[in-house]
Amino acid sequence: MQKKISIIKSKKNKSKIVCLTAYSKNTASIIDKHCDVILVGDSLGSVLYNFSSTKKVTLDMMIEHSKSVRMGVKKSLMVVDMPHNTYRNSKEAIKNAKKIILKTKCDAVKLEGGKKIVQIIKNLVKNKIQVMGHLGVLPQSATSFKFKGKNIVERKNLLRDSKLLEEAGVFSIVLECVESSLAKEITRIVRVPTIGIGASVHCDGQVLVTDDLIGLNEISARFVKKYSNIKKYINDAALKFKQDVTETKFPSKKHSY
Ligand code: KIV
Repeated sequence: MQKKISIIKSKKNKSKIVCLTAYSKNTASIIDKHCDVILVGDSLGSVLYNFSSTKKVTLDMMIEHSKSVRMGVKKSLMVVDMPHNTYRNSKEAIKNAKKIILKTKCDAVKLEGGKKIVQIIKNLVKNKIQVMGHLGVLPQSATSFKFKGKNIVERKNLLRDSKLLEEAGVFSIVLECVESSLAKEITRIVRVPTIGIGASVHCDGQVLVTDDLIGLNEISARFVKKYSNIKKYINDAALKFKQDVTETKFPSKKHSY
């Protein structure tokens, strides 16, 4: 695991980091060969469970989905989101991070936040837990999903938080919905890789939610690029099945005992 972390860190200023989300074994096993990092994101709350925010995602949900993902991940670094209210203080964070790692055999955990959680991150790192940071729009606590870096205060805070997270010992930082020139500046000043989602091409890597990328999840965010239309394939297959069943073409002798 340490080797995988070193590989991710060594990509800074050399080659881009490719990261996608997975919530189950089948997806993980398909994307694994193309990714450097696979993230079991708590976005699964909205994508799979139709929650209005990620706040309702529980530790058990993250653990069960991550156990499934683990079966499909062979080469990528596997990171699991610590859900809302599972890292309110260092003691709680260490207990829950250890539980996630023990039960899912993931390589690292991701936490959302800057200055407020720096001490918690330091204590996780002290306990040999690998941490990915997450700055910019923070879905677990966000009241607005507008991009960050519009004014001087936001910019100053994000620059400060990036340095604080680096000093706390994170091995990389996700930047979510951060204005391009600010993402560029953060990427320049921190020594660990930045992984952007709606944070420009200047980051050291990019992450997208796989269900958005394949067109399975309906989302209209500017930062999403739809690379496939998997809905059409599922629709076509279901329609063909329906026709075969109604016309008694399925099951044929080949599919019967
Ligand atoms: O939960 C998630 O999927 C994430 C990514 C969008 C970075 O945090």
